[in-house]
Order: sequence, then C-alpha cells, then structure tokens
Amino acid sequence: MASGSVLVSKAAKSVSILPLGADGLKVWLKRQPTMVRKWVQANGFQAAAGSLLFLSSRQGEISHVLFGVSGLESPWDWAVLPKSLPEGTYRIDGRLKAKEAEAAALGWLLGGYRFDGYKKDAEKPKAKLLWPTGADKNGVTALFEAICLVRDLVSTPASDLGPRELASEARKLARRFKARCKVISGPALEKAGYPAVYAVGKGSARPPCLIDISWGRASHPLVTLVGKGVCFDSGGLDLKPSSAMKLMKKDMGGAAHVLALAHLVMSAKLPLRLRVLIPAVENMPGPNAMRPMDVLKTRLGLRVEVGNTDAEGRLILADALCEASRGKPDLIVDFATLTGAARSALGPDLPALFSNDDGLAKDLLEAAQAENDPLWRLPLWSGYEDMLKSKIADLNSAPDSPFAGAITAALFLQRFVSKTSVWVHLDVFAWNGAERPGRPVGGEAMGLRAVFALLKKRYKNK
Ligand code: BES
Ligand code: ZN
Ligand code: ZN
Repeated sequence: MASGSVLVSKAAKSVSILPLGADGLKVWLKRQPTMVRKWVQANGFQAAAGSLLFLSSRQGEISHVLFGVSGLESPWDWAVLPKSLPEGTYRIDGRLKAKEAEAAALGWLLGGYRFDGYKKDAEKPKAKLLWPTGADKNGVTALFEAICLVRDLVSTPASDLGPRELASEARKLARRFKARCKVISGPALEKAGYPAVYAVGKGSARPPCLIDISWGRASHPLVTLVGKGVCFDSGGLDLKPSSAMKLMKKDMGGAAHVLALAHLVMSAKLPLRLRVLIPAVENMPGPNAMRPMDVLKTRLGLRVEVGNTDAEGRLILADALCEASRGKPDLIVDFATLTGAARSALGPDLPALFSNDDGLAKDLLEAAQAENDPLWRLPLWSGYEDMLKSKIADLNSAPDSPFAGAITAALFLQRFVSKTSVWVHLDVFAWNGAERPGRPVGGEAMGLRAVFALLKKRYKNK
C-alpha cells in the first residue's frame, strides 16, 4: 500500500549532503573560498534546522547540499530531505555515528512515505540516497516496514479493514515468519471463553474474532503482546457525535502496533517466545448490540456493568489480558487507542505509559528517550479504584466521573492482569493530525521503536 523514498547501495556519482549545525557552519566556512562564503551569506543560510542551501560546481551542477540540523539522532531530523531535493543520487558526508546513520536512513525512507493505495496520481520523491555508512540495513529496513505496517493498517478505511481483514493481515505476517496463527471468530468466541469480546463485537454485521499468533522456541522467555483491535468505533448505542466518530477507523491502532512489533521481533530473531493476542471487533449500534447497563461476563469470571458502550476497548482487552496472564509470560505489553482522556492529558504525540513494575517503567522510559520515541508515565493510582465500583456487578466499565479517564481505564485493565505478571499498558493516539516532514496526516506508530529497543535490551543474546 505505502511507498517510501529510495535508498541505494551503489551509484556512479552522487551529490554530497553536508549536515551542519550553526557552529559547524562557522568552522566549515573558514575553510571555504570567498565565493562560497559570499554565497552562503547572500542566501542568509544560518544552518537553521531543516534548511537547505545548494552549491554549484563550475559546470553548473549541484555539487553540495548544505543541510541545517539541530540534532542527528532522530529520524525526524532527517525526514525533510527526500521531498526537498531535486532528482539525483545523494550521499551524506561527515562522520556519523551508527545511531545517526540509522536515523538518517530511516528518516529518508519515512520522508518519502505516503499512503497512496487509493490514489491514481501518487507522486513519488525522485531523489535517491546512498545508504549511509555504518547503518544496519536490515535493522533499518525492518523498522521502516514495521512503521509502514502501522500507518497503512491505521489509515485503511474501516470499510476495507474489518475484524476479518485484520485477521488476514495477522495471518499474512505469521506466514512470512513461519509463526502459528489461530483465529476464533463469531459465536465460537463465547464457547471458547471470550464472552466480552463477543458481547462487544456482536452489534456489528462483521463478526468479531480473537487473533492468537505464537512464534519462537519453547526454551526462550515468553513475551505476550496485546493490541486493541476495534476496526471501527462508532461508540455503539452510546453513539459518538460525528466529530468524535470521524477518526475512529484508527481504533485498531493498538493491534497495528503489536503486529508491527511482532514483525520487528521476528525479523531480528530475538531470543524470546512471542505471543500476540488481538481481540478484533467493530463497535456498532444495532439490534444485537450491547446496551448501557448490561452486565457482561468476562474470561476471568468478573462481571462487568457496561457504564457506557463507547468504553468498549477495555472490555475486549479484559478477556485478552486474562488469557495473556494465564500463559505466565515474562512480560505483557499492551497497546491501545484507549481513551480520549490520555489525549487531553498528554496531547496526540505523547503516549501514556502505565506499569505495575517500576523497574520496567524506568527501562522503557529510558529506551523511549534514547530512541527519540517519547512516552510519559501516568500512575495506576489505586485511590481511584472506587470509581470502578458498580452497584450490581463486580465492576463498572465506565465511571461517571469526568476526571482521570486514562487512569481509571488502566486500573480497569489491571483487574484482569494477574498480580504476578509484569505488565505495561500504552495508551496511544496512533494518528498524525498535522503534517510534518516524514509524518504525513494519517496513521502513526508511537512507542513502537521504544518498546522494540526495550525488548532487544531485555532479551539480548547471551
Ligand atoms: N476509542 C476511544 C478512545 C479515543 C477517543 C482514543 C479519541 C483516541 C481519540 C474509546 O473507545 C472511547 O470512546 N473511550 C471513551 C471512554 C468513556 C466513554 C469512558 C473516552 O475516552 O471518551
Ligand atoms: Zn469507544
Ligand atoms: Zn475505542
């Protein structure tokens, strides 16, 4: 579906790109002939981040591109390049650390990304880049593919991506890496003990399912990933207003993230055993839809009163997290576009992290910082547990309180995670609302590189 810009391994000739900060520019200028100094000055080029200046050879060809930078380690520092450069092959000059070279390559690829499956006249960037020296080509390619997978799945209209199609995507991924993939769908979910997944999904003409991928050697530690796969969230009978419903094709963003993470883990052949659980549903009003104040059974046995049918994500995740816990994994990671409240608190670009393990939270926040893939921790504040009380059932799914919605949602999930499980929950937006270089409006991976870095560190080959 997607396309990116091109990286090549060889070229007869290439144009030099020189990344320069403001200080670097001063040093560089001292070594240049007067003509170049004057040209730089006449153009007012001061190496502001993202700015470019072309230098010409005596033959009138572009000989160098001066590229203003403020940092080199984030892919976003580089992503402006492909669409700003004319046709040709380029190389990056100057010594880059491996991490910078990888950021440059990934930024270049993402800088040319567009979701073009539904467009006839899709324009492709014409500039090519020689792979920067020191970049791990396989690693960068896998990251690009994983990010494209998230973006493409999230941006695909819900009409073309229902629970069944999401399951096909999971099967496709499993096939590529020789993983097993089991899918339970429709009423069979009830018999298999996923009553909440079925209750949420049965309001739609498109049957719900539970996707279960497993991969890796039995001797390796088990990591279970859980992703919210709401292919469209209309709100159900508690129908969302149109402005809030508009983006809800992205409500399977959590599922997209865990599939992409599985792609990364399996590509890198990390020494771990992987399980991916995705409850996939469409939350729709209709004659079979769950109602406000219905009481649902869950896999764990707890009964949940439906406070609001629009709080559907936590219900399907409850069953999946319970099943995840039963496997006694070393680690559970869930990704979910779970609450509007997390967005009110932290905005669209900063996913909220919740964890029942301080050491894990610390490691993940460090990885997030090192990867330029930010996360922010919010507390599983037990003082708010009372908000989940129901008069007639074990739990209420949606408190009436207008406060702390991201926290109460996370506390709800925690009730379905066994006390002995080490668990992290990421409440992500999975969407770029504003255009930035390398980040077009549409689906977006958030926290993906951070979690992958954590997994690489935690389960490195001994
Ligand atoms: N999918 C939404 C959460 C969401 C909304 C994520 C907007 C990102 C942007 C979720 O299912 C939902 O509707 N949550 C409600 C819960 C409420 C009814 C308790 C919310 O956050 O308002
Ligand atoms: Zn909802
Ligand atoms: Zn939702």
